[in-house]
Amino acid sequence: MFGYRAIMIDCSRHFFSVEELKRIIDSMALLKFNVFHWHLADDQGWRIECEKYPELHEKASVRESSDFGGVHINKPYGGYYTVAQLRDIVEFCKDRYIDVVPELDVPGHCSALLSVMPELSCRGGRTRVQTHQGIFDGVLCPAKDRVYEVLEDIFQMLFEIFPFGYYHIGGDEAPRKNWSECPDCRKLMEQLGIDSFDEYQLYFMNRIIELIGKAGKTAIVWNDCLKSNGLDKSAVVQHWMITGKGKSATVKWANAGRKVILSPLDRYYMDYPYGMTSLKKVYNYKIGIKGFDLRGRESVLGVECPAWTEYIDDNTSLEQMFFPRALAVADAGWCGNEDKNFRKFLKDIKIPLRLIKRKGVHYMPRREWVPGIISSVVQAVKFAVRGLKK
Ligand code: ACM
Ligand code: ZN
Repeated sequence: MFGYRAIMIDCSRHFFSVEELKRIIDSMALLKFNVFHWHLADDQGWRIECEKYPELHEKASVRESSDFGGVHINKPYGGYYTVAQLRDIVEFCKDRYIDVVPELDVPGHCSALLSVMPELSCRGGRTRVQTHQGIFDGVLCPAKDRVYEVLEDIFQMLFEIFPFGYYHIGGDEAPRKNWSECPDCRKLMEQLGIDSFDEYQLYFMNRIIELIGKAGKTAIVWNDCLKSNGLDKSAVVQHWMITGKGKSATVKWANAGRKVILSPLDRYYMDYPYGMTSLKKVYNYKIGIKGFDLRGRESVLGVECPAWTEYIDDNTSLEQMFFPRALAVADAGWCGNEDKNFRKFLKDIKIPLRLIKRKGVHYMPRREWVPGIISSVVQAVKFAVRGLKK
């Protein structure tokens, strides 16, 4: 049994109400998940009420339109959780033995934040809350003192709302373009004797990890942060990139006895259609990464299935993307790699699915759980084409 058994919901790309979240959380509890990773801010919207910087929830929570996968909805879209609602979710989770891990993704994925605080960017130009998916150049400038002041204020506020031990600080997909053109960044890199942007990002991440650590909390980062050596050893690394430097560095990190959470994107990302990531594929994932030694295996804190929501815009779809696949993740989190038997698993999930349905939560119709080859190819092509459309 792993101590960290999580689901993640991205509430930036699409916003889910407190009631909608509670329904899913209630089903999570039934499946013995014990962490709700709440992705609360990204390029497409800021979702946290913030008394000290009210423009964040008043303005940065709204985008002008929504253009995901070629679907254009020409009206403003927004939403945020009041402090009372954030606390309400925390209490609701606590009653169900679930910890809430809020995520503030830095230094990339910060367009919404920068839309109201352009002074935190390299050039100070205004970015807008993004209306489509992608990786955007608007990143925080690690050379501006104000960045650390603002983040400290925001984290102080979060520390009072989220009492649990882990805080996710992102660290994924931060473009280097603005840093490379910024005199302040260049000067700081020179002072620090740093000549790579991977290292420069680590300097920034480590400062935020220190801030989190001072509050007695542990930071979680995506495995992009292992592209260079030197990540603070207290951090927990979340493995999502299954190829390249990120993957091999995650193996090295874990084999050195440092903690990891496993969310391989080809197995545990719940936003991929069943035709790409069938229930069987999720179930058959053997917890671990090729190259793990005994210590590496022992460094696995747990598993998490994230649902990014560029293409998931209503709660019925969100529920169907989770269920029944999340049952396979829960099973792995609870039983590890023991006695894998997909046929037996299919029998075992009948009762939990019935209970989930009784709670009014939707699950994917059975015929979709393991699509045939033609349906899988069609779904994969559609998914890829949607990703290309702006
Ligand atoms: C991620 O999927 N960008 C962590
Ligand atoms: Zn800069």
